[in-house]
Amino acid sequence: MRVLVSGGAGYIGSHTVLALVAAGHDVVVVDDFSNAKPTVVGRLEALTGRHIPVHAFDLTDIDKTEHLFATDTIDAVIHFAGYKAVGESVQKPLDYYQNNLGSTFSLVRAMQRHDVDKLVFSSSATVYGTDQAGATEDRPTFATNPYGWTKVMQEQILRDIAVADPDMRIALLRYFNPVGAHPSGTIGEDPSDVPNNLMPYIAQVAVGRREKLQVFGDDYDTPDGTGVRDYIHVEDLAAGHVAALEKLAVTDEPISTWNLGSGRGTSVLELLRAFEKAVGRELPYEVVGRRAGDVATSYADPSKANAELGWSTQKTVEEMCADTWRWQSQNPDGYPD
Ligand code: WQD
Repeated sequence: MRVLVSGGAGYIGSHTVLALVAAGHDVVVVDDFSNAKPTVVGRLEALTGRHIPVHAFDLTDIDKTEHLFATDTIDAVIHFAGYKAVGESVQKPLDYYQNNLGSTFSLVRAMQRHDVDKLVFSSSATVYGTDQAGATEDRPTFATNPYGWTKVMQEQILRDIAVADPDMRIALLRYFNPVGAHPSGTIGEDPSDVPNNLMPYIAQVAVGRREKLQVFGDDYDTPDGTGVRDYIHVEDLAAGHVAALEKLAVTDEPISTWNLGSGRGTSVLELLRAFEKAVGRELPYEVVGRRAGDVATSYADPSKANAELGWSTQKTVEEMCADTWRWQSQNPDGYPD
């Protein structure tokens, strides 16, 4: 299929572009590069040996989005593009609602005008609110921050669209904690400023860009007191997107929801120890107070995706750390401008 990947220059999007090409699909990328560097495209072309068509614009621009669908033959869309920083969303809620929902409105309207019926939507475990332990897809959804609400709302909007237009084939994919990098070490996670997330922060400590890791609380009701999360290698996540896309070509369900996670929890200190093994030395850290909004434990029940997509995670936490370290040590300052 010819697949439009929105946010395809981003962390998860770029890894999914590789997986799509490897699975024999054609890819077109649209990205506004507000949270990605153009260098990624060259890396993808080097890895695939193929030209990757890229359209650089903001999907909330209805005319440009329409023009893309009018001038290219798109069979399916994987929609990653969106703002995703929890803390920033609390400071700038209108930007988050306008951008995340507006881009989806513009995109889905163009899809409907051009009879594109397959959509894979990038959702998040954050829609389980504070009830994320052993989460199954039938749990009610709610959020504790504007970013999370944009995901809850987009899921609901897409469910309503599926009722109104049962010819649509939509997959809502709820990710847990994506980490890792392509084993080549040439693409990876490159946060634009101080990393919010644990793995990139540890990686920047290891490469000498940050002094030490701050562990946000060790008084949670977890085995070692630190937060437990379901880390999923971005390569496994990308494979899950290809599996979901190909399922849409054969299912009779207008809309389906799948958790993409390992089903296993790893604590902050366990991840730190695993990263130290990858680096071969101890890394400095300090336990500080809890971060507002954090839950103690989050991990998926991935059995629905395992059964219906024939997909499961393959990579271990050690591989996630080793691949992250290879990317970070080969690119100490991330992607060049
Ligand atoms: C993981 C654990 C922290 C940083 C976030 C978003 C979620 C989703 C995935 C988009 C927690 C601890 C972290 C640090 C730390 N994103 N931590 N020191 O919060 O589970 O999920 O990313 O969909 O919406 O909320 O991931 O990596 O920020 O935190 O101790 O410097 O690491 O307390 O226990 P999180 P995270």
